[in-house]
Amino acid sequence: MARVRLEKVRKIYEESGRDQVAVHEFSLEIADGEFVVLVGPSGCGKSTTLRMIAGLESITSGTIAIGDRVVNEVAARDRDIAMVFQNYALYPHMSVRENLGFALTLRRMPREEIARRVAEAAQLLGLEELLDRKPRHLSGGQRQRVAVGRAIVRQPQVFLFDEPLSNLDAKLRVQMRRDIAALRRRLGTTTVYVTHDQVEAMTLGDRIVVMKDGRVQQVDTPLGIYQRPANTFVATFVGSPPMNLVRGRLSAGAFLSESPGLRLPLPADAPRPAGAEGPVVILGLRPEALQLRAKGQGAFAARVEEVEPLGSETLLTLDAAGVALTVRIDGLVLVSRGEELEFAVPASGWHWFDGASETRLT
Ligand SMILES: Nc1ncnc2c1ncn2[C@@H]1O[C@H](COP(=O)(O)OP(=O)(O)OP(=O)(O)O)[C@@H](O)[C@H]1O
Ligand SMILES: [Mg+2]
Repeated sequence: MARVRLEKVRKIYEESGRDQVAVHEFSLEIADGEFVVLVGPSGCGKSTTLRMIAGLESITSGTIAIGDRVVNEVAARDRDIAMVFQNYALYPHMSVRENLGFALTLRRMPREEIARRVAEAAQLLGLEELLDRKPRHLSGGQRQRVAVGRAIVRQPQVFLFDEPLSNLDAKLRVQMRRDIAALRRRLGTTTVYVTHDQVEAMTLGDRIVVMKDGRVQQVDTPLGIYQRPANTFVATFVGSPPMNLVRGRLSAGAFLSESPGLRLPLPADAPRPAGAEGPVVILGLRPEALQLRAKGQGAFAARVEEVEPLGSETLLTLDAAGVALTVRIDGLVLVSRGEELEFAVPASGWHWFDGASETRLT
C-alpha cells in the first residue's frame, strides 16, 4: 500500500492544432489506505486523471508520486498499480482461473504462488465454483467480479477503478457496490475510484473529489460535501432531487426572492451570509429542508403543482409565490395537486452562495 500525491497535474490535448485543457492543476494527497472517489459530469476529466496516475497517459506538467517515488517518467507496468475498467474485456478463450492468473503468469511468478493468489482472490469474491468456466458462461456480475479479481491477485500498491459498475443493471450495481466496500475493508488498499454516480461516490468514498470542466470543485468527506457544498455546482450535483436555488436579497431578517415575490423569514439562529444585506445572494434549500407545517404554523405558504409518490417518501413541486421548489415529504402524508400547504425551514437548512461567483458564503 502507498499514499499517492498529485501536485499541480495538468493535461493538455492538442486537437487540430488547438490546445484543449482536459485537467487543470489537479492537486491532491491520498493517504495510505484511503478510498478516494472522483465524481463529475461526462468530460470533466475523471478518466484522464486516473489514466495519468496509471501511467497510461502522459502528464503535461506537474508531479505524480506513488509512495515516496515520483513516477512521472515511470512506465505504467512499473508503477505497481492495478486498474479495473468499465469494459473489462476478459480473455474469452481462457477459464476464470487462467484469466485471474494471467498477469502473474506474464510476470513469470512461480506456479504455486499464482495458484495461491488465485485461490485467495476467488474465495474473497465468491468465484470458487466458477474457476473452470469460460467468461461467456458467466453473468455480467460474475464477469465484473473476475475483472476485479484480476486486479486483486497482483496485490498492487494502488487500485484504480474507472466506472467499473456502469455496465451492470441497477440491482447488480447495488450488490457490487457493497461487495467493493467489503473488499476494501478486507484489503485496505489505497484506491482511486471514478464514477459519475453520486450514490456510489457517497457510499464508497472516504473522501470525494467533485470535478467540473477539468477543475476540482471540492474535496471533502461525503457528508461534508452534502452538508457544506463549496459552490452551486456541487450543491446541485450531489443530492437527488438537487438542492433548490433561489436568487434574491436579504432584508430585515427575511429572504426576498428576486422575482416574483417569495418572502422567507429567517429563524433567529439560521446562518446569515456575512455583510450580505443588499447584494444578490443565492439561497440553497435541500428538498428535505422544507418541512410541512400545520395551517397557521408555517413560515410561508405554497401551492402543490406536482405530486410524485415514491413509497417511503413523496416529492412535491411547489409554486411558492411564483418560485418553483422541490420538496421531499413523508410518504404517508396524503397531498393533492392544487392544495395550499405551509412550510418552514429549520436553522440547519439554509445554504448561502455568492450571487456572482456562486461560491459558498458563511
Ligand atoms: N485522447 C484524447 N484526445 C483529445 N481529447 C481527449 C482525449 N481523451 C479525452 N479528451 C478530452 O478530455 C476531456 C476529459 O475527458 P475524460 O475522458 O477524462 O472525461 P471523463 O470525466 O472521464 O468523462 P466520462 O464520464 O464521459 O467518462 C474531454 O473533453 C475529452 O473530450
Ligand atoms: Mg471517463
